[in-house]
Amino acid sequence: MIGTALRRFQLEDRRPRRDEILADALRGLASHPKRLPSKYFYDARGSQLFERICEQPEYYPTRTELAIMRDNVGAIAAALGPNVRVVEYGSGSGLKTRLLLRHLQSPVAYVPVEISRSALTESVTGLGHEFPYIEMLPVCADFTRPIKLPRAARAPRQTVVYFPGSTLGNFAPDDALRLLRQMRVEAGQGGGALNGGVLIGIDLVKDRAALEAAYNDAAGVTAEFTLNLLLRLNRELGADFDLGGFRHRARWHPLAGRIETHIVSTRAQRVRVGGQVFEFAEGEPMLVEYSCKYSLDGFARLAARAGLRVAGVWTDPARQFSVQWLACG
Ligand code: TRP
Repeated sequence: MIGTALRRFQLEDRRPRRDEILADALRGLASHPKRLPSKYFYDARGSQLFERICEQPEYYPTRTELAIMRDNVGAIAAALGPNVRVVEYGSGSGLKTRLLLRHLQSPVAYVPVEISRSALTESVTGLGHEFPYIEMLPVCADFTRPIKLPRAARAPRQTVVYFPGSTLGNFAPDDALRLLRQMRVEAGQGGGALNGGVLIGIDLVKDRAALEAAYNDAAGVTAEFTLNLLLRLNRELGADFDLGGFRHRARWHPLAGRIETHIVSTRAQRVRVGGQVFEFAEGEPMLVEYSCKYSLDGFARLAARAGLRVAGVWTDPARQFSVQWLACG
């Protein structure tokens, strides 16, 4: 299967190399408070665990976003128009993408940018079978770094950046703004007669209980996902994190408007990474992820600062989640 995919699609491989991962890990562990970059959650096992998070009863975002897409896909497809080149950041399993591509009018190309090579190969293989007439241009890369993405063979009417999953919430405000600006540039210069736009999934502020449950599922899948980051650093960097000495913690911070996920050291200990030794105190938290939640107004202000105008908003009846169409300028 994988061999076929590699023959059928030229996968552009710009995965972070070991030395980049090591430098990022060392920088994070040396800072106060300690932190580790969340993009490294997504190795093959991490991507699988994330798919399982999406199926947990407490994790409402995926299910709700999919329902919003299903209920409004006609209007969404009409807003995007015909002959688009779709660029997707952090494409994951591609379930929502399938729905979108099915309803778009003769899309020209699909350019998924995904850091997990296994997730990318799997999803593009499936989509390639279902949509043989859409040019597939997969790129295995960290989308937070500006990269020149492949152009479509057939000229598109416009480029649309698709960014579902409330992944924007995983960035602190400055980084989120920078990323929105980068998407606006891609939508404007990605080829095509018109300036395109951004179709984005944004999770909304709600009560603490629902939010904290979503990031602390009872089955413990999220905890396993978070701690898998340490396993990955052990395996790929030769670090010696003892998984028994760390636990997952996710809490809602209403003033900052975000869930903060930490890995907490359950005892005083030393960890060796890349020849350096890092001391952990008992109870010391290490920040691994933000999941910022927005109000509709708050998000519109952020989008405006990036030169994007909210031109369409679709939500579920309980207003848990939103899918938004942002036009350039
Ligand atoms: N974009 C997802 C979110 O913030 C990613 C995610 C879900 C996640 N659960 C997580 C990231 C737990 C870190 C830890 O909802």
